[in-house]
Amino acid sequence: MTIIIGSEKSSNRILKLAQLTGYRYLLYKERVFPNGEVLVYVENPKAFRNNAVHIFIETYPDTNSQIIKLLELLEIVNHYGVDNITLMIPYLSYSRQDKRFRPGEPITIKMLIEILNFYKISRLISFEVHNPQVIYKYADFTFTNLSIGVDLVKKVIDSLGNSEVFLMAPDKGRWDTVNMIAKALDLPSGYIMKIRDLETGTVSMKGIVGDLRPNIPVILLDDEISTGGTMALATDYLKKQGINRVQAVATHLLLVKDAEKKLFNSGVDNIFGSNTIPNKYAILEVEPYIAKEIV
Ligand code: R5P
Repeated sequence: MTIIIGSEKSSNRILKLAQLTGYRYLLYKERVFPNGEVLVYVENPKAFRNNAVHIFIETYPDTNSQIIKLLELLEIVNHYGVDNITLMIPYLSYSRQDKRFRPGEPITIKMLIEILNFYKISRLISFEVHNPQVIYKYADFTFTNLSIGVDLVKKVIDSLGNSEVFLMAPDKGRWDTVNMIAKALDLPSGYIMKIRDLETGTVSMKGIVGDLRPNIPVILLDDEISTGGTMALATDYLKKQGINRVQAVATHLLLVKDAEKKLFNSGVDNIFGSNTIPNKYAILEVEPYIAKEIV
């Protein structure tokens, strides 16, 4: 038998996964001690014995606590002898630090994977991870990196009611992915050339690759919007080039602090994304994609 386990705080999502898969589910409780330590509690842990366990956990917001909760769940599941564990983590925190940018810094995604390797994990399912290659390289388990870019852009086009759009990557690094999505949907695409001052770290835009037209809405597509800085800068630049309509679109909408304000002030018309991180701009639900993978 297969059991899905998730927080009672995410009960809607767990119920949806259970409905879509027909699997049994358990909800764990959580508490925070006065000193900030967190603790999960599973009421009927014996149910894990001799079963496959699928752990669903969100690692944003409260990233650090959530990672500890994940390790606590693994400790419990391990205690009951489960040797078939699947992790379902829609947004995988700590994956952006995929290199040792400066000596003396850790590669956090490698660190996380090495810790997970300690447990009997069969598979990790996530979405649009910043650099999946690092995970493939270090994980002792199967890694499934789901891409929802094509479906997300289709939904945006439906919402705009306009199939004539230009798909744009906010920098060259994102170009390959954006271009693939554009090809799949037969859309024109391009990217913004970004330069970073290596001394001050200041980022500026220095040109556009692609045949843009002022009246064709631009869909700026990235893996995530965190502080909104990248998208705001790109939008500001596009506006200066005479582009009338800009949509800020990403799979993961972290929208840290005043990100929304920053985006709308820069001239973004709409923000669109998925519910890998629950938010009010989500137009695509990821539960069906997860369910399809685990049945
Ligand atoms: C960067 O490598 C990522 O693809 C995103 O562009 C970045 O995480 C966005 O962050 P922010 O919204 O803070 O500019």
